[in-house]
Amino acid sequence: MIKQILILLAAGMATVPVVADTPVYLDSSRDIEERVEDALSRMTTAEKVAILHAQSKFSSPGVARLGIRGLWTTDGPHGIRPEVLWDEWDQAGWTNDSCVAFPALTCLAATWNPEMSALYGRSLGEEALYRGKDVVLGPGVNIYRTPLNGRNFEYMGEDPYLASKMVVPYVKGMQDLGVAACVKHYALNNQEKNRHTTNVIVDDRTLYEIYLPAFKAAVQEGGAWSIMGAYNYYQDQHLCHNDRMLNGILKGEWGFDGAVISDWGGTHDTAQAITNGLDLEFGSWTNGLSNGTSNAYDNYYLANPYLEMLAKGEADPKTLDDKARRVLRLIFRTSMNNCKPVGSMCSEAHYAAARRIGGEGIVLLKNDRNILPLPLDKPVRLLVVGENALKMMTVGGGSSSLKVQREISPLDGLKSAAPAGTVVDFARGYVGDVTGEYNGVTSGQDLSESRSAQELIADAVAKAADADYVIFVGGLNKSSGQDCEDSDRGSLSLPYGQDEVITALAKANPNLIVVNVSGNAVAMPWVKQVPAILQAWFLGSEAGNSIADVLFGKVNPSGKLPMTFPVKLEDVAAHAVGEYPGVKRADADIWDEKYNEGVLVGYRWHDTKKIKPLFPFGHGLSYTTFAYGKPTVDRKEMAAGETMTVTVPVTNTGNREGAEIVQLYVTDVKAPVERPAKELKGFRKITLAPGETKEITFTVSPDDLAYFDADAHKWATHPGKYRVHVASSSADIASTIPFTLK
Ligand code: BGC
Repeated sequence: MIKQILILLAAGMATVPVVADTPVYLDSSRDIEERVEDALSRMTTAEKVAILHAQSKFSSPGVARLGIRGLWTTDGPHGIRPEVLWDEWDQAGWTNDSCVAFPALTCLAATWNPEMSALYGRSLGEEALYRGKDVVLGPGVNIYRTPLNGRNFEYMGEDPYLASKMVVPYVKGMQDLGVAACVKHYALNNQEKNRHTTNVIVDDRTLYEIYLPAFKAAVQEGGAWSIMGAYNYYQDQHLCHNDRMLNGILKGEWGFDGAVISDWGGTHDTAQAITNGLDLEFGSWTNGLSNGTSNAYDNYYLANPYLEMLAKGEADPKTLDDKARRVLRLIFRTSMNNCKPVGSMCSEAHYAAARRIGGEGIVLLKNDRNILPLPLDKPVRLLVVGENALKMMTVGGGSSSLKVQREISPLDGLKSAAPAGTVVDFARGYVGDVTGEYNGVTSGQDLSESRSAQELIADAVAKAADADYVIFVGGLNKSSGQDCEDSDRGSLSLPYGQDEVITALAKANPNLIVVNVSGNAVAMPWVKQVPAILQAWFLGSEAGNSIADVLFGKVNPSGKLPMTFPVKLEDVAAHAVGEYPGVKRADADIWDEKYNEGVLVGYRWHDTKKIKPLFPFGHGLSYTTFAYGKPTVDRKEMAAGETMTVTVPVTNTGNREGAEIVQLYVTDVKAPVERPAKELKGFRKITLAPGETKEITFTVSPDDLAYFDADAHKWATHPGKYRVHVASSSADIASTIPFTLK
C-alpha cells in the first residue's frame, strides 16, 4: 500500500526507479493535447495498435504500463444497455444494471425542443457515468427515407435541419459530463434490409443537403468525440472504412478530431481500415470470434494483421500515430477525464425527464369534436383495447433493447391517472407478439392468449358498447419486422389484423381514440372513422404515464411529426422512384440502391409532387388553438452578408396554456437546379397562456437559401426571388412573404 502511494506521489518523475511492470503514471494536470503527445511518445508500436481494437464485446484496452485506462462503450441511444459477458452476447447476470429507458429518438425529435434534447443527453450521460461507461453508442441521425426502415425509431426524422438542431444539445449535454457520444451510423444507413450489403448510389447534392447535415452539426456544433461508421457500402467501399466519407469529408472537410469507431463487425479489410479512416474496431463476430477463439481480438483487422503490415513496412507509422492520437484523445476526454462527476442511475430526476420528454413528444394527430382530453372532473367508463396497452416496449428492437428498473404500461398509466370512480376495463383486441425477450432479457410478462381473432374482436366490441370512451392502444412492437434492427417492415400497414379491430370498434362506439405506438408512420385506412388519434412512439420507462398525461390533459400535447405520414407506400419517394430495397448485382452479394429521388425526401417530395400526405411533416394539434398574426420583415431585399428578420405574433386563442411550434420554410422561386417546393429553415417552440400573444423573430441569412453545387463542390446561392413561409406544419402555411436576394 505504502509502496503504491509512493509511486503515485512520484508520478511522472524520472528519478523513480522503474522495475519491470511498474506502471508509469502520466501527469494528468496537463491539457489534453499535451497528455496525448506525452502518452504517444512513450508508447510502443504494439501498444499503439492495442488501443485500436476491442478487448471484449464493449470495451477496448488502454495501456496499463502507462496507467492509461481503456474505454467502456455501451448502447445507446435510449438508455444504458445491460451488461453482457466479456466475450459473449449472453447476459452477465448483474442485478444492478437496470436503467431508466428514455423515449425513443423519434419522440425526442417530435418535441422540436432543443432543451429536451439537452435534458436527454445529460440524463443519459449521468446514467452512463454511474455505470462506468465512457462512450454511449448514439444518438442516431440517419435520415428517415422510408417508413419501412426498422431502425427509424432510433433516429430523428426526415428533415436535416430539424435533426441537426436536435442532435447538438444531446451531444453537448452528454459530453459536458465527460461521456462521449458516438453519433451513428455515418452515413447513408437508411434501411435495415440488406444492411451489410447495400451499396448506396446518391448524388453529391443530395448527400450534402439531406444525409450529411445532422452528422456535420453533431461534429462541428456539438463537438462529438466519436462517430460510428455504418455497415453498408457507399461508392463500393464499406462505410466503416470509406475513404471519401471518413478521410475526405469527416476528417478533412469538417475537421473532426475524434475517433471513428466501427459498427460492430463492420470492418472487413485491414488495408482499407488503415488507410480509409477507421480508428477503433469493435466486433460482433469478426474473425472467428463467434467460435470463441482464444485471443480472438488479436485477429481483428486493426490488431495483429496491422502489426504485421507495420513490421513489413507496408503500413505508414504516421497513420498509426494519427489513429492512436485520436483514440488517446477520446480516452483523455472520457475515461481519464479528471473532472467527471459520479453520475446517477434510476433517479427520480431521470424518470421525470423521461416522462416530460415523452409527454412533449406525443403528437395529437386528430381530435374531432374535441373529444380529448378525457374528463378529469367526473368518473367515466373507459375501455382500453389492444396488446400494446400491456406490452413492455423497452425489451426488443435490437441493440437499443434495455433492462429497465420499471416500465409503466399504458393501461397502468391510465388507471392511475383516471379520476376516482372511473372504471377502466380492458379487452385484448388482437394478439401481436406474445414473446418478450431480447438478448437474454425477458419482460416476464405472460401475454399468452388462446381466443381466436374473431373472438377477441367480438369481446372488445361487446365491451365497447358499454363504455363512454374506447382507447385502442396498438401499433408496432419492436419485434422483428415491426420496428426492429436488422429487418425492415414488410408493409406500411398495421400488423396483426389491427385495422379490422379498429374498424369494428369505430362502429361500436363513436368515442374511439387510437393511440399508435411506433417509430414509423403507419397506414390508417380507418382514419375518417376515428375521431381522435395520438402518435405515441416508443416512450420508455414512463410510457404509460406520458400517454395518460396527454389523454387526461395534464399535459397539453405539443409534439409535431418529425416525418411525413403517407397515405400509402407508393407515395413515398424511396418507393416511387428510389429503387428501395436495391438491385442485386449478378456477380456479387451487393445490392445497388440508387437514391433517384435525390433531395426530394419526405415532405420535400410530397410538396413538390403535390401528393397529399395522411399527416404532414410538422403537424401536431393542441388542446388549445393558436392564431398567427401578420408577419413583418425588416427588409425585402437581402444582399450577401446581410440577414433578414421575420417577426410574427402568435396568440393562444383557446382557454388553456399550450405550446406551439412555429415553423419557417423557404422557397427558391426559380432555381438553376431542381429544388424542393420548400425547406425548413427555422422553428421555435413557445408556451402561451390563454389569450397571450408572443412575437417570434427568425433570422434568415443567404446561407439558408443555399443549395449544394456539386460541380463546384460548394454551397451556392443565386440572386433572384425567394419566399419565406411562416407555418404551423409543412402543409399549414399561415403567411408567405416574397423577398429578393440581390
Ligand atoms: C448496431 C449498433 C450498435 C452495435 C453494438 C450494431 O449491430 O448496428 O447500432 O451500437 O451493434 O451493439
